[in-house]
Amino acid sequence: MDNTILFVDDEKDICDVLSISLSDLGYKVYTAQNGQEALRIIQKVNPPIVLTDIRMPVMDGLELLRRIKRQFPETEVVMVTGHGDMDLAIESLKHEATDFIVKPIKDEALEVALKRALEKISMRRQLREYTENLEELVQEKSAKLVQAERMAAVGETIAGLSHAIKNIAGGLEGGSFVLEKGIELENKDYIQQGWEAVRFSFDKIKDLSVDLLNYAKFTDLNLRLSDPNEPAREVMELMKPRAEEHGIDLKVDLASDLQAFWFDPDAIHHCLLNLVTNGIDAALSDNPLDTRKQVVLQTSKPENWGVEYTVTDNGCGMAAELREKIFTSFFSTKGATGTGIGLMITKKIIDDHSGVIEFESEKGVGTTFFIKLPQKDNDL
Ligand SMILES: Nc1ncnc2c1ncn2[C@@H]1O[C@H](COP(=O)(O)OP(=O)(O)OP(=O)(O)O)[C@@H](O)[C@H]1O
Ligand SMILES: [Mg+2]
Repeated sequence: MDNTILFVDDEKDICDVLSISLSDLGYKVYTAQNGQEALRIIQKVNPPIVLTDIRMPVMDGLELLRRIKRQFPETEVVMVTGHGDMDLAIESLKHEATDFIVKPIKDEALEVALKRALEKISMRRQLREYTENLEELVQEKSAKLVQAERMAAVGETIAGLSHAIKNIAGGLEGGSFVLEKGIELENKDYIQQGWEAVRFSFDKIKDLSVDLLNYAKFTDLNLRLSDPNEPAREVMELMKPRAEEHGIDLKVDLASDLQAFWFDPDAIHHCLLNLVTNGIDAALSDNPLDTRKQVVLQTSKPENWGVEYTVTDNGCGMAAELREKIFTSFFSTKGATGTGIGLMITKKIIDDHSGVIEFESEKGVGTTFFIKLPQKDNDL
């Protein structure tokens, strides 16, 4: 530990005597005759302990104490007082002096005061080390936690993926079996059925790989200054034929007060495409089709956001237990036709934009999805 000490007293004799005592105790001693000189020395050598007389010309001990505590709060300051200076001594304790000793200085009292100062210094050091260790520990633990969460997510994804692949493999196996039987028995119907099942499984594999590629593709956003209505317009054009084919009204309602801002238009296109596709699927799966089915894609400008997309359908809607699962990887109620990765990618893309995705849904009534994107002014 640094064993430097500064002794401040305007009486040179006392300085000399005390220097000898302190040197005997193993300290490296500096002396100053007044507060100003003391501050200069402190700035240069930064001693952990300062011993100062209270009554001095130019700058008294109390003022010196205040300045030291302001500039060097960790320096321990022991006050040296005359007999009648009890008030000043008590005042100095209020200003965080470590201790005070009374003149004439007795070795014993000096040792006690210095011991106290040293104890405070070492306690502070221990506390600092402890806090630093604690911070390291917390950092280490939270890094492990993040890793564990990531591993859990990877595990869940792999489990979902194996399930999807197993389903496809099952379809392929069944199809090939029927196909082989058809060849063996020279039965055209069997051959036809088997071949269709095999074809269907091929399509599923293609869909799955496209979904997985999309998931990988949008891991890094490509932010560009873009018109938020543009992806909505494109998705409408793309989906119109499919909706018309099934007798579903696909409507678009775009706000005119939107400004361009920074987002990834391809990724947002992908999100809207999935929401509109889900809306059409929901409209189709609603039984009986007693009302005219429609899917509406709207844009609007909420305060403090760049855009809000709303996709509403009056399709089958979702019951409570379904609503909890839809953002989970590979959750799908569409059996062989859905991989259940669509909303997972959508949510990831919106999260990566620091946006918000929410929905309201009621079984038998319909569903509305809301996406809000923050108005970013640059690509940072
Ligand atoms: N608009 C909606 N109305 C009713 N149910 C919905 C709607 N959107 C999503 N869902 C439910 O959430 C599930 C998950 O949707 P998600 O888009 O993630 O997967 P998917 O559409 O089944 O398959 P894909 O990977 O091809 O998109 C759907 O299977 C469906 O049950
Ligand atoms: Mg989908």
